[in-house]
Amino acid sequence: MPTVVDLFCGVGGLTHGLHLAGLNVVAGVDLDSSCRYAYEHNNGDAQFIAADVSLLAPAKIAALYPTDGVRVLVGCAPCQPFSKYTKRYRKGEQNGGREQDEWQSDNKWRLLYSFSNIVRHVMPDIVSMENVPELETEKVFADFRDTLIGLGYNVSHSVAYCPDYGVPQNRRRLVLLASLLGDLTLIAPLYQESNYPTVRGSIAGLPCVAAGVRNQDDIMHSAAGLSAKNLCRIRSSVPGGTWRDWDDGLKLKCHKKGSGKTYMSIYGRMTWDAPSPTITTQFYGYGNGRFGHPEQDRALTLREGALLQSFPPDYVFVDPEQEINKREVGVHIGNAVPVELGKAVGVSILNHIAEVNGNEQ
Ligand SMILES: C[S@@+](CC[C@H](N)C(=O)[O-])C[C@H]1O[C@@H](n2cnc3c(N)ncnc32)[C@H](O)[C@@H]1O
Repeated sequence: MPTVVDLFCGVGGLTHGLHLAGLNVVAGVDLDSSCRYAYEHNNGDAQFIAADVSLLAPAKIAALYPTDGVRVLVGCAPCQPFSKYTKRYRKGEQNGGREQDEWQSDNKWRLLYSFSNIVRHVMPDIVSMENVPELETEKVFADFRDTLIGLGYNVSHSVAYCPDYGVPQNRRRLVLLASLLGDLTLIAPLYQESNYPTVRGSIAGLPCVAAGVRNQDDIMHSAAGLSAKNLCRIRSSVPGGTWRDWDDGLKLKCHKKGSGKTYMSIYGRMTWDAPSPTITTQFYGYGNGRFGHPEQDRALTLREGALLQSFPPDYVFVDPEQEINKREVGVHIGNAVPVELGKAVGVSILNHIAEVNGNEQ
């Protein structure tokens, strides 16, 4: 069985998908130690290493692999520097250009250079890198790909539409796969529009909960409170609709300006029979996107967001002995690689190894 180390592992969305596909994930590395409990609790013997990838000696990563077998290194560096929002920010569209210096000094994107540096020293047989599609046109991505090609890897990349791989969410992700053993590409889609997983299939079976009420059975399935005005707003919202459906008195100032059209998708309700919008790190807030429940007058719960990210229903995110930090768990869930996409990466790797061994599955 191939052995995997996961850089920037978070609470283990990618690790869990690889684990479900049948790969042996031995360790994940992440700066944020609040991810440790969930990472280790749900992923067999995988060890969580709290460390800064940019400061980690590559020899420490190399030492995590056994002496024989196929070695796989995966990683999903923080995507904020490349997201659509941040790119607009960087161009000054959101802020009159004031934050350009902040952007210049934000060296998070350098983490991809740290990743390729680890590849250079460890020379794993297979590498997978996942990120937002906007990264595809950045120099740092071309540099990453060219470094791997220079090291002798066969490299492919594509933008995966998550519903194609069984994720009930319309997220798109850039997936790069590289192998020293031969050509490696992401498997073909497993679903098509006629049978995409939906919001209904994913969350309709959960108990009804009211906004602002703590759910004692599953604390993760509690919904944020709503102000009286937001309660009126969600009651006036139709699934898939926008704030244009509301009475004038409920509209926000920004809606009344021409520029309000930029925010069409905030304060919306999801539709039952389609994949959900992209789950962000703040999906549990009604005003932060189209995150209203299709029928109940409330925003999504953390559990629902996790299910829409295709985490299994019993994935444990917080130590039951600890108080839940909603903001932190929201970030963990929104940042995760959808588990089913991680599984598709795992299946691609296993098929590739079988093919190389002359034993196509
Ligand atoms: C996009 S998330 C990864 C999600 C994860 N792969 C998953 O599927 O759940 C990026 C992660 O990088 C971590 N991170 C940010 N800077 C880091 C650094 N310098 N070293 C290690 N981890 C870092 C963040 O804490 C965050 O968990």
